[in-house]
Formats: sequence, structure tokens, C-alpha cells
Amino acid sequence: MNSNVETLIRIVDLHKSYYDGESELPVLQGINLEIYMSELLGIVGASGVGKSTLLHILGTLDRPTTGNVLYDEQDVFTLSDTELARFRNKEIGFVFQFHHLLPEFTALENVALGALITSSNNKSVYKEAEALLDYVGLSERLSHYPSQLSGGERQRVAIARALINQPKIVLADEPTGNLDRRSSEAVLELLWDLNAKSGQTFVIVTHNQELAQKVDRVIQLVDGKVF
Ligand SMILES: Nc1ncnc2c1ncn2[C@@H]1O[C@H](COP(=O)(O)OP(=O)(O)O)[C@@H](O)[C@H]1O
Ligand SMILES: [Mg+2]
Repeated sequence: MNSNVETLIRIVDLHKSYYDGESELPVLQGINLEIYMSELLGIVGASGVGKSTLLHILGTLDRPTTGNVLYDEQDVFTLSDTELARFRNKEIGFVFQFHHLLPEFTALENVALGALITSSNNKSVYKEAEALLDYVGLSERLSHYPSQLSGGERQRVAIARALINQPKIVLADEPTGNLDRRSSEAVLELLWDLNAKSGQTFVIVTHNQELAQKVDRVIQLVDGKVF
């Protein structure tokens, strides 16, 4: 790492436990991690170790039990839920293992939705959504519904959707976990390409060896800590 590397996110002594009545399930047990601007960071680790939990907290979808997450030195969990939702919508894009596209909306509408909420110019949002779908290779699928798309195509729609608000960071939780080999490769190529061209930061949880080898940096979660 050269000295020009800028820190985008700083995770400080992060703990997360789940509670079921009396019993505590400690999952994250003191995570310290810096995520750098524009890097492609891979997170690996055994099933159940807490990778999704970490990604959810990083994405402000869940709050930590203790510890801090600082975006550009701002401690995001001091924000109210409303402020946090606004922050999340603006700064963070998500890609999940299962695409979570809305079945009653077309590919174009699915991509546009996240920006229509805040934009006053629907026409430019649809134009941007169309450009993104074109970029992920789906310009011929704008008016298809999720049920009319292949698994790989759905995941590419989900990636386009994650990018609509030009987030600083894209969080992907096993984005190829549900895809066959060929579709996986296409999705991976797309993620590398995006990272290289856009300068956005990507954090990708993966079981995919190939992906884990091609990222800038890989961290492993073991027993609730970064290894
Ligand atoms: N909402 C929840 N409530 C209770 N336990 C949970 C919840 N989410 C995850 N867990 C538990 O926390 C541990 C870590 O889960 P997760 O972060 O999904 O792991 P990974 O993504 O690495 O497979 C697992 O033991 C899981 O059962
Ligand atoms: Mg998981």
C-alpha cells in the first residue's frame, strides 16, 4: 500500500451479538479494519462465522452491539434511523446472493426505483437506469420482468440497481453464490470492470476461489475476528 491510499471506512473494535431470551450468541468479537477508497476487498470465512452480519453493519442495515463504523471519519451509528436511511440510500449500493428484485416491476423499473424516491427528474433517472442496464449487457432486456430473466441476468440487474445512486461503496454478499459457472464468471468480470472504471469501493463476501484471488486484498473472518 502506498501512502496515497485514502481510508474510506474505519471499523473500530466492533462487536455484535445476537440475543435469544437469556442467551447471547457472540458473532463479531472485536473487528478492526480499514477499507480504502477504490479498493476491491474480499471477505472470506467459514459459513456462520459472521460475514453477512459484518456486511449488514457495514451497510448500516443493522447496528453493532458495541464499537464504531466511521465513514470519512463520521461515526454513522450516531445518526438516527431516518438519517441513517438517507445516508445508506445515497452512499451505499447492495448486491445480495438472491437478487431481491421486485417481481411486479420490469428490469428498468427495478433499477430506477432507488433513485425515483429522491429525484425530482424521473426522465433522467430512467435514462440513467437504461445506461446502467446497457453497461451490464442487458440493453435488450429493459422491459423484461425478473421471472423472464436468467439467474445471471437477474444478478446483473441487481448490480445495475446497486449503482443507480452512484454510491461510494458497493457491498456484495456472495453475489455469485447462486449462479452457475458461466454466469458467475460474467458477473465477476462485471464487478472487476466496474471497480477498475468507476473508482468505487467494492466489498465482496465470497466463497468463490477465483474471485478471492483476483481482489486487491482478502481478509478472513475467524472466530469473530479479522485474520
Ligand atoms: N438475526 C439473527 N438472529 C440470531 N442469530 C443470527 C441472526 N443472523 C445471523 N445469526 C447467527 O449469527 C451467526 C453468523 O451469521 P452470518 O453473519 O449470516 O454468517 P455467514 O454470513 O458468515 O455465514 C450464525 O451463527 C447465524 O446463525
Ligand atoms: Mg452469509
